Amino acid sequence: MHIYAEKRFLDNNIKNISDALELEIISDQPNKNSYLAYDGNGLSFIKDAANPKEFVHIDFLKGKLGWRIKRAEHESNLKKALGKTKKELNIFDATAGFLSDSMIFLSLGHKVMAVEQSKIIFYLVEDAIKRAQSEIPFLKNLSFLNGNSLDVFKTGKGSFDAIYLDPMYPIMKKNVKGSGDMRSIRSILKLENISNEANDLCDAFMQCEYQKIILKRPLKYKKIYSNINYQVKGKTTRFDIFI
Ligand SMILES: C[S@@+](CC[C@H](N)C(=O)[O-])C[C@H]1O[C@@H](n2cnc3c(N)ncnc32)[C@H](O)[C@@H]1O
Repeated sequence: MHIYAEKRFLDNNIKNISDALELEIISDQPNKNSYLAYDGNGLSFIKDAANPKEFVHIDFLKGKLGWRIKRAEHESNLKKALGKTKKELNIFDATAGFLSDSMIFLSLGHKVMAVEQSKIIFYLVEDAIKRAQSEIPFLKNLSFLNGNSLDVFKTGKGSFDAIYLDPMYPIMKKNVKGSGDMRSIRSILKLENISNEANDLCDAFMQCEYQKIILKRPLKYKKIYSNINYQVKGKTTRFDIFI
């Protein structure tokens, strides 16, 4: 895979990303396979050069996500999952993905440490953070890391009021969320040869010391653990809470 950037867009930011991902920067637009593209709007992932209209570009200021962040107060299910509290919580997001859920936690006034295992996803999100930093002050309450969240958690840097787990959804027949973002995440993980054992990750966190675990699952997904304290149900997803 390559990073495609016209010469006029070359800056230190993309040079650092190219070093970190060990990907060469090229100035001719690829006509096959997946690639990363960098221009005046920042970093994007193009899944298939033959269909450049299908791409991933994270933006916290505009679009569906920007709108969700602005209306974070309306996220009643996530709020219920966190529980009634006036205090600022320290949340550990073990499955950061495109950071949508963590952005809601931050915008509700909480502090978040979020960890993403995929390097490509990490740099797409980090680029979005850099672009949004001057306009979204609460981003200062975020610590965003690339790595395995279980390893990070076990190093014990910080005490957390809640661990948030949103592992990859199992592919289900009528997987409502099997669209858009999830499809993109799946294809990036495949490209990086990252396998996903959602249950292993959940089992491992369940065995750690925690105050509260919030596990996001498809609404109809079978209950794996019997010690659920309460559930918050939405139209397509539910949160299983363990205290
Ligand atoms: C369903 S997505 C999370 C979506 C996220 N909640 C959001 O709002 O965008 C799951 C993500 O967790 C990441 N992940 C899974 N296991 C992980 C681990 N052990 N450490 C870090 N990230 C992990 C996957 O790479 C994927 O990006």
